[in-house]
Amino acid sequence: MALGMKKGLTSYGDAEFSLFLRKAFIKAMGFSDDALARPIIGITDTASDFNPCHGNVPALITAVKRGVMLEGGLPMAFPTISIHESFAYPTSMYLRNLMALDTEEMLRAQPMDAAVLIGGCDKTIPAQLMAAASVDLPAVVLPVGPMLVGHHRGQVLGACTDCRRLWGEFRAGRMDEAEIEAVNSRLAPTFGTCMVMGTASTIACMTEALGMALPGSATIPATHADRLRAAEDAGRQAVRLAASGPRPSAVMTPSAFRNAFTVLQAIGGSTNALIHFTAIAGRLGIPVDLDEFDRLGREVPVLVDLKPSGAHYMEDFHWAGGVPRLLRELADLLDLDAPTVRGGQLRDAIEQAEDVPGQDVIRRRGNPISQGGGLAVLRGNLAPRGALLKRSAATPALLRHEGRAVVFSSTEDMAQRLDDPALDVTPADVLVLQNTGPVGAPGMPEAGYIPIPRKLARQGVKDMLRLSDARMSGTAFGTIVLHITPEAAIGGPLGLVRNGDRIRLDAEARRLDLLVDEAELARRHALWSAPVAAPARGYARLFHAHVLQADEGCDFDFCKPRD
Ligand code: FES
Repeated sequence: MALGMKKGLTSYGDAEFSLFLRKAFIKAMGFSDDALARPIIGITDTASDFNPCHGNVPALITAVKRGVMLEGGLPMAFPTISIHESFAYPTSMYLRNLMALDTEEMLRAQPMDAAVLIGGCDKTIPAQLMAAASVDLPAVVLPVGPMLVGHHRGQVLGACTDCRRLWGEFRAGRMDEAEIEAVNSRLAPTFGTCMVMGTASTIACMTEALGMALPGSATIPATHADRLRAAEDAGRQAVRLAASGPRPSAVMTPSAFRNAFTVLQAIGGSTNALIHFTAIAGRLGIPVDLDEFDRLGREVPVLVDLKPSGAHYMEDFHWAGGVPRLLRELADLLDLDAPTVRGGQLRDAIEQAEDVPGQDVIRRRGNPISQGGGLAVLRGNLAPRGALLKRSAATPALLRHEGRAVVFSSTEDMAQRLDDPALDVTPADVLVLQNTGPVGAPGMPEAGYIPIPRKLARQGVKDMLRLSDARMSGTAFGTIVLHITPEAAIGGPLGLVRNGDRIRLDAEARRLDLLVDEAELARRHALWSAPVAAPARGYARLFHAHVLQADEGCDFDFCKPRD
């Protein structure tokens, strides 16, 4: 199956000359004819000085290369875009599709028989899986692994759940400037991805359950020797995949996605994962049914006790047995016949799962953290195409709530008015943020974690019902309804909410409603005009014209396969 250097020859109109020229150039790097005759394994180099989460990528590449060569292949690392959450304006999500396009075209354009996709920081593995699905080149995902925890005055700190919690303490006046500065140096003490069950950890765990990462590789800390051994293993396995597959389309089947969504619910994972895995599945023509996803949410118990919903961190999850041990606990809810890039089936990973006596991170089925209820899909006249609520991170008393809307028309409006002492707001109100969806912001930023207005925070208010068409960091918590679809900026009902309207959430009934009569809504709709003009040029114009809504994964419409 492997074609190596002969694959995808540059179009000079003479195939033999194309190969001759290619070899002449690559020999400038000192390769022998023997090396150039081997199967080629591409390795995505996503290291960047702007991406501290990927700080171990150079060491991982060295280990992957060792594995490839031990198995008789030729490793070829190549750069792709790398996206870090805090270094992407206006938001990393705006760039995910660009990374997917870049990775897809580099996997296709360069001669390789299989690839090791090294990623981790939130949007990177989704982009790589979208690319792998479209190219259908055999590929193994190698997560960079989570950071180790930080410590401050006897407290264990986790990025970035504690970044938000401690910033909230500072805003509320319970922490002074000197201490918040000291904490700033302790929240992210090593390279690697955020070590709570945020988006990066969620995606890594789901990728393992999907079958696209090797068993156990989601949770090994970024700094550990085992992470390098996993990299070597990924390199070896990529050579085997080059010889005999399976290809991504044979691994990422509808039941593999169901397995991944089951794990998402059981880990109380990030809301962002639903969007990303919808986009990945969309590349393969696999629709994600939100109602089916919600049913899973009722049926799958939350078993993993990690922050932000629970108490522990990724390294604890790893030493408790990691994803294979969790899969064993969920075995009757999974399709164990699903193939994986290891070459066997998901059941093989489960058989090798480690039992760790006394661990309390992965609960038994008979002793769940909650019996169902990780993520819930809401519908109603405010969210005709759905909205998402992370129940495990919400305040139970607010899961059934009716209140008065306090509306912000954009993130800029929110930044200007939220902390105004004159803002007319009470703890029982519903904070509403508009025009922060895929088109509106643009890129659907993680602005859904609307801060508690300062004057209420200072009174000790820690949570309120908050709604938006934005996303939220997987490390955040609160009673927060996200991904309201269709978004306000394209005329969705969220854009019709006005200050003082009544809004009702009933999470158990999966309802989110604006209690305004239809005639009034029709009147407001007739007066509505699009708040965002189409950008004049470049990627911004492409994005504005082609990005899909959250229920379709926010992919570009032209990246989905033709019907
Ligand atoms: Fe990279 Fe959290 S900022 S994973």
